[in-house]
Amino acid sequence: MAFDSKFENGRVVTPDGVQSGVSIGVRDGAIAAVGAPSEIGAADSVIDLDGQYLLPGVIDCHVHVRSPGYEHKEDWSTATAAAAAGGVTTILAMPNTDPMIDSPETVQQVYGIADEDAHVDFQSYAVLTSENYDQVKPLAEAGVPGFKVFLGTTFGEIEPPDDGELYAAMQDAAAIDRRIGFHEENDEILSFYEEQFKKEGHDDPIAHSHSRPVVAEAEAVSRIMLLADHADAPVHMFHLSSGTGAELVVEGKADGINVTAETCPHYLWFTEEVMNEKGNVARVQPPIRDADERDRLWETGIHGGGVDCIATDHAPHTDAEKNIDEPFADTWESISGFVGLESEVGSMATFVSEGRLPIEQWAYMHSTRPAQIWGLYPRKGSLQVGTDADFTVVDPDVEWTGRKEALHSKSKTTPFNGEEFVGKPTMTVVRGTVTYEDDALAVEEGYGKLVPSGKTTSNAKPRSGPGN
Ligand code: NCD
Ligand code: ZN
Repeated sequence: MAFDSKFENGRVVTPDGVQSGVSIGVRDGAIAAVGAPSEIGAADSVIDLDGQYLLPGVIDCHVHVRSPGYEHKEDWSTATAAAAAGGVTTILAMPNTDPMIDSPETVQQVYGIADEDAHVDFQSYAVLTSENYDQVKPLAEAGVPGFKVFLGTTFGEIEPPDDGELYAAMQDAAAIDRRIGFHEENDEILSFYEEQFKKEGHDDPIAHSHSRPVVAEAEAVSRIMLLADHADAPVHMFHLSSGTGAELVVEGKADGINVTAETCPHYLWFTEEVMNEKGNVARVQPPIRDADERDRLWETGIHGGGVDCIATDHAPHTDAEKNIDEPFADTWESISGFVGLESEVGSMATFVSEGRLPIEQWAYMHSTRPAQIWGLYPRKGSLQVGTDADFTVVDPDVEWTGRKEALHSKSKTTPFNGEEFVGKPTMTVVRGTVTYEDDALAVEEGYGKLVPSGKTTSNAKPRSGPGN
């Protein structure tokens, strides 16, 4: 029986290495065969990749889709159009929506909206608060891949459970092998400095960064790991921003704590100087750190095993909310967050082209590892026969410039506007179907499907690879 399609002449990237001269046959949306071109039979359509890289589909496990409730910022159609355009095949949505995703009913609500509107595959976290900390099991049964707790005040102002409630929730999550992820900042430190800076009249963009010092992240990482150690629970650090944080995670892993961590391209690309260059465009929480913290995040996070995965924290807001016409005006009048889905593959490919990141480690951190952490593996994040045929195709030679006008998100605000990339996503394939190619969306809203999720895997030993 012929394949529906086959992908030829790609350089196929997995965490184990890069293989040239391998063809992939696809049938009914799944990978049906991987092998030498002579071993793969006929196909209805043949896609010649002409030496480009084919990675297991990139997964962005930190996307603020904003729907339900804040569709003026973003919705499932625009966020997943941005994902497809950016080379992303699966997104995991954040629950700080209105209503927030905190019950089996609201989980079904967001799944329903996504099912109608998404262009790529999807999942959604549930949030844990004082109201629902004892609902871990029913929420997992409703289908969520894991949980989010907002320790630091951020958009949506969702209060965390208290430490007793959190410890109980951790024990429940441990019992069913589900992971709880955190916005890990100490809220009392943030509030103290924000108030003090406002009183003293510090309102330039970098004052926002300095009002959220590294110790706020370090304290939260340490406290979560202490609770997780006692509860024997899997925990995850979302958007880890500092070398200090990464060093603590490395120590936690060495102590046997089941902790995983994510960082975002902006913490690896920029330093806090970007606040003086681009202003509140780059305002985000946690903030972008100084060069020393950034360099140690590379060293201990990326090369030392402290960071497991890459995600964007794609956080769209309106131009008015960001006060985009006056990026250097009073930072306390602006809002935190910016879009990332359409620059993440370009920025990571650029790191690869600069020799700073082995391409197989990139595939591991941006596809395999998030799939394992959130219970989607091996259906997602592998190129195994029988799994979903999700591919991110990257031309490593294309030099291009981030241009806000080209973005598919409702929000065009990103500090990557004007940045130069080497390596571009050229084709996005979800379950065997091309969703984006030649600068055009190739599927309708509703193509994207809910990805079933299961148990989280443990925190694998820090990966050693070329350059480590
Ligand atoms: C996020 C948002 O806008 O929802 N903002 C941000 O600065 N990161 C919230 C978050 O992830 O903390
Ligand atoms: Zn956050």
